[in-house]
Amino acid sequence: MHFLFLLALPFLSSASASAVGRHEDHSHGLEQRLPSATWYHHRDHPVHSLFRRDGDTDGVNYAPVGSSEWAAGYPPEPPTLPDVKSIPASWISALNDAVSRKAIPDIPPSKLDSGGNPTYAGKDPNSPEICSSTYQCRIDGDIWDAPAGSIGLSFDDGPEAGSEKLIAYLKTVNQPVTHFLIGSNIRDNPATFLKIFELGDGICVHTWTHPYMTTLSNEQVVAELGWTMQIIHNSTGGRVPKFWRVIRTDSDKRVTAIAKEVFGMTTIIWNQDTDDWSLTDSPPGTTAQKINSSMHTWLTGPKSPGLIILEHELSDQSVAAFMAAYPVMQQNNWNIMSLADLVGHNASYQNSDSNTSPVNGVDIVNAKNDSPPSSMQIPPHPPPRLHHHRLPKNPAPLYLNGQYSRSH
Ligand SMILES: *[C@@H]1O[C@H](CO)[C@@H](O)[C@H](O)[C@H]1NC(C)=O
Ligand SMILES: *[C@@H]1O[C@H](CO)[C@@H](O)[C@H](O)[C@H]1NC(C)=O
Ligand SMILES: *[C@@H]1O[C@H](CO)[C@@H](O)[C@H](O)[C@H]1NC(C)=O
Ligand SMILES: [Zn+2]
Repeated sequence: MHFLFLLALPFLSSASASAVGRHEDHSHGLEQRLPSATWYHHRDHPVHSLFRRDGDTDGVNYAPVGSSEWAAGYPPEPPTLPDVKSIPASWISALNDAVSRKAIPDIPPSKLDSGGNPTYAGKDPNSPEICSSTYQCRIDGDIWDAPAGSIGLSFDDGPEAGSEKLIAYLKTVNQPVTHFLIGSNIRDNPATFLKIFELGDGICVHTWTHPYMTTLSNEQVVAELGWTMQIIHNSTGGRVPKFWRVIRTDSDKRVTAIAKEVFGMTTIIWNQDTDDWSLTDSPPGTTAQKINSSMHTWLTGPKSPGLIILEHELSDQSVAAFMAAYPVMQQNNWNIMSLADLVGHNASYQNSDSNTSPVNGVDIVNAKNDSPPSSMQIPPHPPPRLHHHRLPKNPAPLYLNGQYSRSH
């Protein structure tokens, strides 16, 4: 972790320089905050009150990202399942409301069999009540496929050892991707987290501790998703992710419903898996050659459905497998986009029109006179994207070695 901090230092001074430069387009930011903008969901969705932000601060003094005060605001190390007793009361009451309006299916948590597959006390995991994605049962509304002709790019498990290499490559090819981040990894690698955020790509949720989610109680599912949303929200100027990515294909109707009904998030799975996470296992579970050959098959094969390939920013090797394949994606004329942009109308967040435009605050949610939103309101088309030229709204300054980076 210290290693990551050292690497990050030269970048931080340039980040703070750009942070100052961004004041140039401040008036533009204010215009975008006028009440034409709407949230992704109907305003009576509980997510509006769980994570809200009026302008930059909402009157809260946000601890600088990376400070010990910031880290102390989240479940403690080591990343064991967050203690359900420390879940904010508002999350639990949103869960209880959803349960009482029968929006959360009443199925028991699964138990893993010796092969690591979830079982449901003898019930059929493919039944309509359970619909376990491990058994390839597809729940309405979950995302497995990309539109024909498109590839939705995403990387799981960061901020991690491969993130620096990935960030550097994405800058050279000017390619946005979605980062499904693990909450406890954000807490442990704040400098890398900020670099990812400053790409402007969009950050979504990959749980706090990376558990098999269907084995957890309702409250534990709330804690895994909620803490990860909270650390992203507090560290990105108030952004609320639209999507979460399952762990090892493991979701079912109960877990998907909690994500949707309590937190407004859509569940994302995938339709091709490189096993790139196992490149660095000993012994390795796959090889660069095997990934190369699978990628070749997928990228030169049929274009329908489009591709959602599971990839990781875990190691330099997993990132290298993507770097080898990316030119082949281009040569085969795929429409290549970040996954969240592709399926989320060019926005990874529930409360901003694009990944880099300002968040829509509590003032807009409470506005009395604008027209009633439809459920699932889609933001208007954002302005054309100038990737890496428009910085996202600045997060709190990073606290390093006893100094705030912005004081440079
Ligand atoms: C995160 O933000 C909430 C308000 O949205 C605030 O109550 C809480 O203290 C913040 N936590 C940290 C660690 O900054
Ligand atoms: C496979 O490896 C070759 C040789 O390094 C490279 O030229 C090609 O782009 C790779 N293809 C994919 C799909 O990774
Ligand atoms: C998203 O942006 C791309 C350009 O990057 C554009 O072609 C596409 O139409 C946009 N999609 C939506 C739904 O706005
Ligand atoms: Zn993962």
